[in-house]
Amino acid sequence: MNSTPASQYTWAGRFSEPVSDLVKRYTASVAFDQRLWRHDMLGSLAHARMLARQGILSAQDLADIERGMEIIRLEIENGQFQWSMDLEDVHFNLEKRLTALVGDAGKKLHTGRSRNDQVATDLRLYLRDGIDDILRLLGAFQRALLALAKREAATPMPGFTHLQVAQPVTFGHHLLAYFEMFLRDGERFIDCRRRVNRLPLGAAALAGTSYPIDRAFVAAELGFEAVCENSLDAVSDRDFAIEFCAACSLFMTHVSRLSEELVLWMHPRVGFVRLADRFCTGSSIMPQKKNPDVPELARGKTGRVHGDLLALLTLMKAQPLAYNKDNQEDKEPVFDALDTVTDTLRIFADMLADGIHVRADAMQEALQQGFATATDLADYLAKKGVPFRDAHAVVGAAVKAAEQKGVALPELSLAELQAFSPRIENDVFAALTVEGSLAARNHTGGTAPAQVAAALLHARKRLETLLVSVSA
Ligand code: ARG
Repeated sequence: MNSTPASQYTWAGRFSEPVSDLVKRYTASVAFDQRLWRHDMLGSLAHARMLARQGILSAQDLADIERGMEIIRLEIENGQFQWSMDLEDVHFNLEKRLTALVGDAGKKLHTGRSRNDQVATDLRLYLRDGIDDILRLLGAFQRALLALAKREAATPMPGFTHLQVAQPVTFGHHLLAYFEMFLRDGERFIDCRRRVNRLPLGAAALAGTSYPIDRAFVAAELGFEAVCENSLDAVSDRDFAIEFCAACSLFMTHVSRLSEELVLWMHPRVGFVRLADRFCTGSSIMPQKKNPDVPELARGKTGRVHGDLLALLTLMKAQPLAYNKDNQEDKEPVFDALDTVTDTLRIFADMLADGIHVRADAMQEALQQGFATATDLADYLAKKGVPFRDAHAVVGAAVKAAEQKGVALPELSLAELQAFSPRIENDVFAALTVEGSLAARNHTGGTAPAQVAAALLHARKRLETLLVSVSA
């Protein structure tokens, strides 16, 4: 069972017995943390430059380290690097190879540093890039959403509450509701990025180091906004990763709502939209099927991202200071949330850009069937002096009568309507049309097409301002 002699491990000095293959596999993280290699290298180079500046490493040592790292970079990029589970994680894999390539300088790299502050730095650097990717993709996705909302700014559809027809809205207005949700998601990612962007290096194992290090220099080299102010906190807490997964979870929750609506809208009984074939799949047995797989999967993947958040919260709960090996488990949930969100954004941007065919006729038909302008009739009466509660009751009776007759409200004659209230006059029909109902909701945040057009302009400005604040 035991294959690797204890002496082979970097930390094996005080050990007399090797670990079993099972323990080796259980404790190793290289299978998943190797994706941190680029950021591990960046952190190491900044650390080495600082050590040289401070006179802790010689200029020759630094040159050797830089030369060795460059070779390793090419080896990894060309797929020639030999990753070894015996070397546990990405840090030892790179350090061992560096030492093999440049000798003693490689062994000096870890001066004044621990894997504890190293891995926390790597994850923060990685996540910072990940958030920037998300923000770029979110920008493209939101622009596609705005373009669709602009095309459909005046397209009437039934607005629902309780999934029952409630009042007319425009499809553009409906889509802008999602724009608001996703804009807040963008704000959350940006806010989270500020707290990700702080430097743990210098904390060493937990207490700091006895070398005369310059943390501010390393922070500036790596583009961190500040250093983590307490060494114990720097190596132990992962709240920045939890916040990231929380932002991802909310984003996916919003995606799942849009997805659920797409599935519903695609149902043949509803038929509000058709989804391009490339976002759907068929059935192995039922030849007629065209299933909305992409929205369904996005709805499902929301669950795994929520799971990532819960995994990290539970990982951190009741963990004593400072670093504990538990924290090695922080990476996979972060990677999984990041991968799921970026893939989802790419697919949805594509789908919204030209994968959705809107069936305005089906929306119009659904509007005619649901007494969507009943509130408008009540408002009409209230404006003529009928107390709103009484108006509500009058219209309820009118709806009941229309339903029994099998007609829509505007299809009742003036005489029939007047039987419910003498205040009803010929101008009632303007209030009962979908267009009249829409146009009447003419205030900030309302569904009147003029307001939707203004909201679109404002939305575009807010989006671009938010995105500029990131690249600045
Ligand atoms: N692979 C480890 C991790 O991901 C690196 C830090 C290990 N530190 C330690 N003291 N064992 O957290």
